[in-house]
Amino acid sequence: MDSSTTPQNSTSVVSAIVSFLVYEISRKQQILLVLLTPFIYSYLEQIIYYKFIRSDLPPQVFYWIPWVGSAVEYGMAPYDFFGKMEKKYGPVFTFMLLGKKMTVCLGPKGHEFVLNAKLSEVSAEDAYTHLTTPVFGKGVIYDCPNHRLMDQKKFVKNALSVDSFKTYVPLIKEEVLKYFKSSPMFNLENKDEGDADLMVTQSELTIFTASRSLLGKEMREMLNTDFAYLYSDLDKGFTPINFVFPHLPLVPHYKKRDNAQKTIANTYLKLINKRRATNDIQPGRDLIDALMSSSTYKDGVKMTDEEIANLLIGVLMGGQHTSAATSAWILLHLAERPDLQQELLDEQIKVLGSLDADITYDDLQKMPLLNQTIKETLRLHTPLHSIFRKVMKDLKFPNTNYTIPKGYHVLISPGYAQMQDQFFPNAMEWNPHRWNDDSKSSYSTAEQVDYGFGAVSKGVSSPYLPFGGGRHRCIGEHFAYCQLGTIISIYVRTLKWQFSKEMTGVPNPDFQSMVTLPLDPAKIHWEKRVKA
Ligand code: HEM
Ligand SMILES: *[C@@H]1O[C@H](CO)[C@@H](O)[C@H](O)[C@H]1NC(C)=O
Ligand SMILES: *[C@@H]1O[C@H](CO)[C@@H](O)[C@H](O)[C@H]1NC(C)=O
Repeated sequence: MDSSTTPQNSTSVVSAIVSFLVYEISRKQQILLVLLTPFIYSYLEQIIYYKFIRSDLPPQVFYWIPWVGSAVEYGMAPYDFFGKMEKKYGPVFTFMLLGKKMTVCLGPKGHEFVLNAKLSEVSAEDAYTHLTTPVFGKGVIYDCPNHRLMDQKKFVKNALSVDSFKTYVPLIKEEVLKYFKSSPMFNLENKDEGDADLMVTQSELTIFTASRSLLGKEMREMLNTDFAYLYSDLDKGFTPINFVFPHLPLVPHYKKRDNAQKTIANTYLKLINKRRATNDIQPGRDLIDALMSSSTYKDGVKMTDEEIANLLIGVLMGGQHTSAATSAWILLHLAERPDLQQELLDEQIKVLGSLDADITYDDLQKMPLLNQTIKETLRLHTPLHSIFRKVMKDLKFPNTNYTIPKGYHVLISPGYAQMQDQFFPNAMEWNPHRWNDDSKSSYSTAEQVDYGFGAVSKGVSSPYLPFGGGRHRCIGEHFAYCQLGTIISIYVRTLKWQFSKEMTGVPNPDFQSMVTLPLDPAKIHWEKRVKA
């Protein structure tokens, strides 16, 4: 470091220190020293290196345990952690997370900086692939170059069209009604009231409705068999711990995950082969047909059938936890608000004429309060509390003197901005009516940009971004609104509900799974609107 020390000098200094350590201190002291070295190194690095030598770096949260850093505080309560650190350091700061340096960029400026960074500056695939590739499979999403992902998103988005939503709504409705009959938590043919655990019901309803609509009848029917367990095996491989340890030999749930991925992909593949062999492809029927008829990349390369199968897994996984958690939160908030259940019911009657009328996609478009209920729930309970990218070259944060070095990760949290009073007055209150003049699901700005999968808004400095923004923006938003809108409509039309006895209010969020879920218990006591 010091230019006046010659290599010889420093070698002899080092050998003097080494001989002191080897010969002059006791074995016990040596062991203690070996154990303490990482701690001492870490404190010196934090106190001297970051404060004085690299003063161009964003402020760094001090941590006592090397490598682990602030993992516990962040992992248990990310929003509290961000709030506390923002007060101390401002909206841009770095913390250590299990060996990774994470630079948090809070607020709209952070959203803009990270979501609109250039492809050469930050990488989503480097941040996520350890987690997603074993679950989705090879060649898709974050296991391919970004231009491939952009094309894959275009193929899927083209299939998620208004025309397909028109066929999906009746299918989703049918699934919900069937579930109300057959699930032991409802069993509506034999019961007038009962208790339902929303963590179970909403996750089942989500996979049933998504499979029926996106994957077709055959794959939906597979869920009535042992095949369903494979999804739960795959699910268990999709947790934050898999971020840290993508592969652990000998640990059963990793093996189960890998086996589930293979078996599910092979089952989709079999259906693809069968449809090809019998030339049974009906564009507009489901996502499988859509991908079979349109999945040639811009450069003429075709997706293999195996990649199509893996993309189907990725798309289903992308929508499963996010939608299931959102519908559970909606039902929990409504449990506390019989007045809003009534308002939603009135909206149904106003649009449909009567509760016996069929609900269609077009009807859903005329129900602003239903949309606002979804929109408000995504504000207060944004499923993904953190969005990450790996930094690929040194970056300057605009209007500061901070450099974020290559090799760091950047992190944004739209969910945090969505809970600030400065953007949403009385932000912690769940109030669908705050959106009375704005029931469209998307934020909108005049200017649009197309990264290859259709136009998205160019500016991403909105505080409200539950679906992200920029080239990695969600393509499932409209499907999610269609699925959630139909599920909630059927709930409101069929049932009234309140919290079950053991509950005292809307549960606190649990941040330790992939999406922010309600903490257990999350149960309702329901009653049929029209009793037998
Ligand atoms: C309430 C429901 C949902 C929420 C809140 C949500 C949220 C998000 C967010 C925040 C991102 C951006 C991630 C990032 O920038 O790192 C994203 C991307 C994505 N989502 Fe969703 N999502 C939802 C439903 C769905 C559904 C239903 C699907 C599929 C039908 C889906 C498929 C995808 C895909 C393919 C991406 C692109 C990933 C990328 O380009 O890197 N999502 N979603
Ligand atoms: C509700 O959101 C959907 C999905 O984005 C949108 O197409 C629809 O126009 C919205 N409906 C109303 C009444 O604003
Ligand atoms: C950046 O550093 C320069 C020179 O040290 C200083 O004048 C300026 O105020 C700093 N800017 C910010 C935003 O801190």
